[in-house]
Amino acid sequence: MGKDMWPTSFCRLEQAWSGLVPPGLAATLRHRLALSGAPPMVLRVAFLGGTAGAAVAVPQAGGGVELIWLGVRASLRRRGIGASLLRAVRTTVPARPLETRWNPPEEQPDHFGALMASAGAVARPAGLVVSLSPTLASHQLAALQARLPPAQGELCDWAALKPAARAALRQALDRAALDQGAIPSGLDPFMLAPACAPELSLAWLVEGQVQGWAMAAWTAPDRVWVHAVYGLAPGRRARQSLPLLIALLRRQAMRAPEGRCGWETPDHQVAMLRFIRRRAVATGARLMPRLQARLEPWEMSPPSLTTPRA
Ligand SMILES: CC(C)(COP(=O)(O)OP(=O)(O)OC[C@H]1O[C@@H](n2cnc3c(N)ncnc32)[C@H](O)[C@@H]1OP(=O)(O)O)[C@@H](O)C(=O)NCCC(=O)NCCS
Repeated sequence: MGKDMWPTSFCRLEQAWSGLVPPGLAATLRHRLALSGAPPMVLRVAFLGGTAGAAVAVPQAGGGVELIWLGVRASLRRRGIGASLLRAVRTTVPARPLETRWNPPEEQPDHFGALMASAGAVARPAGLVVSLSPTLASHQLAALQARLPPAQGELCDWAALKPAARAALRQALDRAALDQGAIPSGLDPFMLAPACAPELSLAWLVEGQVQGWAMAAWTAPDRVWVHAVYGLAPGRRARQSLPLLIALLRRQAMRAPEGRCGWETPDHQVAMLRFIRRRAVATGARLMPRLQARLEPWEMSPPSLTTPRA
């Protein structure tokens, strides 16, 4: 088989993952798919009746496509299977940019980064992944919560919000979007709620009005992914969001005392990044860099008229 020439075919998710993705990662990926809400594009390279490698991509709201996972069986790497899958994803949606984000391994070479680079993508920092240690989640939270109550108002289940409070928040978010003061993309609680766990997600109410929210989902029985922790009041964001985050972690700790919690902070949230870096060591957080790469749309003119691809 020539390099980069492996035939690919569409398949079901389970077929793509079988034997390649450990259960914890499968749960995380499933959750990301639920969050995207669109049917995924799943491609695989078959080999000797099994799956040699596979790729999963989803359409993005902005018109692009996000590659959320690509993996090749360890014994079959460096034979062009990864490149063939990447090429197949791009050929399927040639007119759209392909984006991907990943955490480079800490102590090993970044194979996925090397594959993206070989396709012409340039990696840039996309933020941090923060992972809180299980011990913190299980026993220091009550003390922390006592020290950091919300300045005023009360915390309640997101799912228990009254229709009037929901409607007022929706209006406030729409108004903010019109005034170009929109909340950062991906933090809209209404969009997140269907993919988040009602027993974890909560709202901060002041005089019946939502002033903040924390939305999270289980990605494994002991693992929580925090999608948004956000306070609307003007002033110091971290002051508003920390009590919400701690309350959320307590909810997790009640159900999975030795669980781990993670979240992602995008690169453009400079204040949050600074806050996390400063506090990380004290709270037992593990910080991992997050990278992003983008491949521009392909020209679909006849091969004879195109310049050779890198
Ligand atoms: C990343 C991964 C998919 C690459 O698959 P692969 O089939 O081995 O990649 P290819 O053989 O198609 O490599 C194509 C090119 O990418 C680059 N590349 C891929 N793996 C590399 C490595 N380990 N070291 C250096 N360059 C590498 C090379 O330029 C290579 O071309 P070359 O072999 O002619 O030098 C595979 O290593 C893998 O499954 N890793 C674990 C899963 C993972 O990290 N997934 C990403 C998270 S979404």
